[in-house]
Amino acid sequence: MSKSFELPKELLLGSATAATQIEGGDVNNNWYHWSLAGKVGNGESSITGADHYNKYVEDVELLSELHHECYRMSIEWSRIEPEQGKWSSEGVEHYRDEFRRLIQKGIKPLVTLHHFSCPQWYQEKGGWLSENAVEDFIRFVKFSVETFGDQISEWCTINEPNVFANDSYMDGKYPPGGHGDIAAYMKVTKRMVIAHLKSYKLIHQIRKEKGFAGETKVGFAHHIAIFEPLNSHPLAKLGCFLSDYLFHEIHMKGFVEGKLVFPLGSGYPEGKGIFCDFMGINYYSRHLFKASYNPGNLFATPMVDPTIPESSKNDLGWEIYPEGLYKVCQRTWKRYKLPIYITENGIPDEKDEKREKYIIDHLYQLKRLLDDGIKVERYYYWSFLDNLEWNDGYGPRFGLVEVDYSNMKRKPRPSALRYAKICRTKKIVRP
Ligand code: BGC
Repeated sequence: MSKSFELPKELLLGSATAATQIEGGDVNNNWYHWSLAGKVGNGESSITGADHYNKYVEDVELLSELHHECYRMSIEWSRIEPEQGKWSSEGVEHYRDEFRRLIQKGIKPLVTLHHFSCPQWYQEKGGWLSENAVEDFIRFVKFSVETFGDQISEWCTINEPNVFANDSYMDGKYPPGGHGDIAAYMKVTKRMVIAHLKSYKLIHQIRKEKGFAGETKVGFAHHIAIFEPLNSHPLAKLGCFLSDYLFHEIHMKGFVEGKLVFPLGSGYPEGKGIFCDFMGINYYSRHLFKASYNPGNLFATPMVDPTIPESSKNDLGWEIYPEGLYKVCQRTWKRYKLPIYITENGIPDEKDEKREKYIIDHLYQLKRLLDDGIKVERYYYWSFLDNLEWNDGYGPRFGLVEVDYSNMKRKPRPSALRYAKICRTKKIVRP
């Protein structure tokens, strides 16, 4: 592995966040209510966040000082539509100002419309299981694109539909806390596919009709992990294959190709075509599948490679496996030839001992991809700031920038300063 390498200027480097994880202060989203019900670790609450809603001016300055070229963020649906059908001018003005400041600083925004949270009124109607789930979401998409479309040309419709449906209906971690409800997993997945396809068309249509400047780019952020059987046991292989199909493949077919495949259905609900202008990939880790003789686990249970040392794990015990990034990007490129955006890649590392190497090792994989002629256009490190790691609370520290939750002070970690230099020069010298 070479000691130093360079990345092309055209590959934009930056970071990502999500509204519910950093903003704080919103009482109208379902994660606030989930927190009130004591479902977030250590009794913590989304009401705290990193106080970004009040500190966004300072945070945009910091992004700029750290030389980030692009920034992926989400808008909180409940701040825009706190009650069904009632649009909040305060929410609109807030985000318009945040976008304006980003653009002024030359930081390209990519805006996510659904990042794991929704208004409480939507949750109370049944969330993505309600009869009007798609219709309600599309109304929000339409309003958002009409309202922000002059500032925002790049949109990410839905973040990690696979993790969302799994953690909300199979693992009980996210509201409404369903357990092992595979029927709900499928129903929600299908609705999210349809919502994405409709949004894709709508966003293009609105921006075109209104004559908004800038090339419209729409995609979703797919969580793609490396799945491998632990050994040659037939159940390990079968379980791995089934998990890969239900966690990755049905989403690829649906979100990218517009095709419903078994068990979601069949055919092309919104016509044939390619419904992504970029392939958004959230990549974190590798999982090995061990035969488990329990069809509830799809015949195999995912686990971390028992042979790897602690130095190859992050604070949450996930394997650090940079080569996996190369593999997932290469596979999707072969299939669709869509420009790749690494919409998330990052590490919880409270002591900041592994983050710099983690980033460099993953950027090196991007360099390999680019050398192979694969178009990688964006890298968004997860995350800009320490934040609410959903049901795990504020413990895991993914941030380039440390947040002292006692006074909400920001402090860029040493790795943030090293990454800033990489963003500015595109030159990487290994420590
Ligand atoms: C999500 C983020 C989350 C991160 C780290 C992704 O699954 O999109 O919201 O914080 O991974 O777990």
